[in-house]
Amino acid sequence: LNHLTPKTRKEVLDFLVNGLKRLEYRGYDSAGIAVDSADGRNVSIIKKNGKVQALQDEIYSREADLAFEATADCHVGIAHTRWATHGTPSERNAHPQRSDDDNTFCLVHNGIITNYKDIKLFLTKKGHTFESETDTEIIAKLMMHIYKKNPNDTFQEIVEQCIQQLEGAFALCIKSKLFPGECVATRRGSPLLVAIKTKTRLATDHIPILYGKDFRPHGGTAAETLTAASLMPRTPSTAEFQPMEEDKQVEYFFASDASAVIEHTNRVIFLEDDDVAAVKDGTLSIHRIRRNMDDPHAREITTIKMEIQQIMKGNYSFFMQKEIFEQPESVVNTMRGRVNFDTQSIVLGGIKEYIPEIKRCRRLMLIACGTSYHSAVATRQLLEELTELPVMVELASDFLDRNTPVFRDDVCFFISQSGETADTLMALRYCKNRGALIVGVTNTVGSSICRESHCGVHINAGPEIGVASTKAYTSQFISLVMFGMVMSEDRISLQQRRRDIMKGLQQLEEQIKEVLKLDSKVQELAKDLYQNKSLLIMGRGYNFATCMEGALKVKELTYMHSEGIMAGELKHGPLALVDETMPVIMIVMRDPVYTKCMNALQQVTARQGQPILICEKGDKDTQEFASRVLEVPHTVDCLQGILTVIPLQLLSYHIAVLKGCNVDCPRNLAKSVTVE
Ligand code: G6P
Repeated sequence: LNHLTPKTRKEVLDFLVNGLKRLEYRGYDSAGIAVDSADGRNVSIIKKNGKVQALQDEIYSREADLAFEATADCHVGIAHTRWATHGTPSERNAHPQRSDDDNTFCLVHNGIITNYKDIKLFLTKKGHTFESETDTEIIAKLMMHIYKKNPNDTFQEIVEQCIQQLEGAFALCIKSKLFPGECVATRRGSPLLVAIKTKTRLATDHIPILYGKDFRPHGGTAAETLTAASLMPRTPSTAEFQPMEEDKQVEYFFASDASAVIEHTNRVIFLEDDDVAAVKDGTLSIHRIRRNMDDPHAREITTIKMEIQQIMKGNYSFFMQKEIFEQPESVVNTMRGRVNFDTQSIVLGGIKEYIPEIKRCRRLMLIACGTSYHSAVATRQLLEELTELPVMVELASDFLDRNTPVFRDDVCFFISQSGETADTLMALRYCKNRGALIVGVTNTVGSSICRESHCGVHINAGPEIGVASTKAYTSQFISLVMFGMVMSEDRISLQQRRRDIMKGLQQLEEQIKEVLKLDSKVQELAKDLYQNKSLLIMGRGYNFATCMEGALKVKELTYMHSEGIMAGELKHGPLALVDETMPVIMIVMRDPVYTKCMNALQQVTARQGQPILICEKGDKDTQEFASRVLEVPHTVDCLQGILTVIPLQLLSYHIAVLKGCNVDCPRNLAKSVTVE
């Protein structure tokens, strides 16, 4: 939004597209832009499937149409690069989404609206028709609905009324034909900042927050609330707006992170949940509906000192490190809108209709490669318990080599972060040809595995860039646990077990944060280990998958030999490897295999092995036998693997850094292996 110097439309468009390119690392299946039309009276939307480059090419091919050389003192444009959560990647589903054919309200959205179905139903009854499969479109249509009810409301007021009906997470930037030269942005749960560029140093370090009265009732479903809302008197908040800056020579940018704007300005305000920021006539105002006791009077303008590359990775040196530390968030995103802790229920929208058929099946087969395979190993025991069905866990390549018999009454799960792994996809087609029900579990909406499955679960971990998978693993793990929970909903004998698991799921976010505090301790351990040739990781039961996954991380990232060993097999061979020089990590939890793990631990110490222990916090008895200890919080046995794998992710990361290996792109490996 420009008031600094008149800009050509080409400059504005280039600015937006370059900003998107900076954000492309967050997701990149489609992109779009909304700008004023050439005559300035309408809004043009341009959207393109694929990378931002495709959008840029499209914009340049419409140079005349878009009046590239026309200049303006003030212009509002919004742009978005998408990583699909609802609806496959396509131009229709790309953002901006709009309220109507006239593009009256256009908006871009990050996050997930969990009550979008209720609102969609409400709006459909009111005569709105929908053109996309996104949750985002309902927001634009809802704004239109609100505007029609109260045509004298300001832009900011319309947005405020709208967000009170939304549940879930969002960061929104909105442009409207009705309010030329104005832009409103708001957030809840998803990040959003305002960046400010002025010719001279800003006169203030703070933007005051304006509070208005709560004019909407809360509670009830969206549809009920909306009906009630239209009857309620409102308190106008327009009068409370104050100009924050006399000097109108200013440009404002809204962005989901600073990398999009850092080349233009380093002065930013990080918006808080439910802030509604509006720019009008060169003035920024931040408004909140209601004020709580401790709420501050102002938002601080911060000066960012980081380089672009750094911002993309946050404070992290590598994407993999960032992704490890994102896990408290990503596990919550996997459960968002699915797990209801109040009613103790779980709904998986993508497979809901198939559950009766799945319950009648002969067996479950979980088929995958690499880390995704380990998530199947990690949850097999729980799925056997909760579904009471035979569960086969298969490496896709070996499954195909064996021409494994598959039947019409089998249910086959294909687990894949990318949704493109060739071996997994071939196995999917093999099973589909034999009439089995195909369930996809992927992180990539619209990927081949998604498209070719009958139904599925999106793990919603967000884009994973590091080649070695971390947050996708924990999200796959949780997705499969949620599936088990759905299957066991009506099993009376399992109710206590289900309550324990629910409690475990609810605590995960905090417990993962606690595990991540081990980072510096793990780094110290890495210093002791990184010059070794080999590293054994041992465990059994629910934690065997952690051993295999930990060893895979060490191999992939550090090029060191590492093996995940089933502790029950120790005496059948691997014990021969153990001496005082061989580093051995052992996972010993207070679960049903505790005594057996202790036997293995003693077998190792008896051969002068110096076990490094991953165990439960405060378990002093077990720690006596260890040379070093990493403590993780206790959770229900079947979720413990989520907490035990994180120290090993960190360990492999630190060893790789110490050895100078390329953490995000290990030699010889690819993120998405599309060849057999
Ligand atoms: C590659 C990656 C691994 C990944 C495996 C399966 O080997 O390097 O990190 O676990 O593929 O990938 P998928 O996308 O199917 O989960």
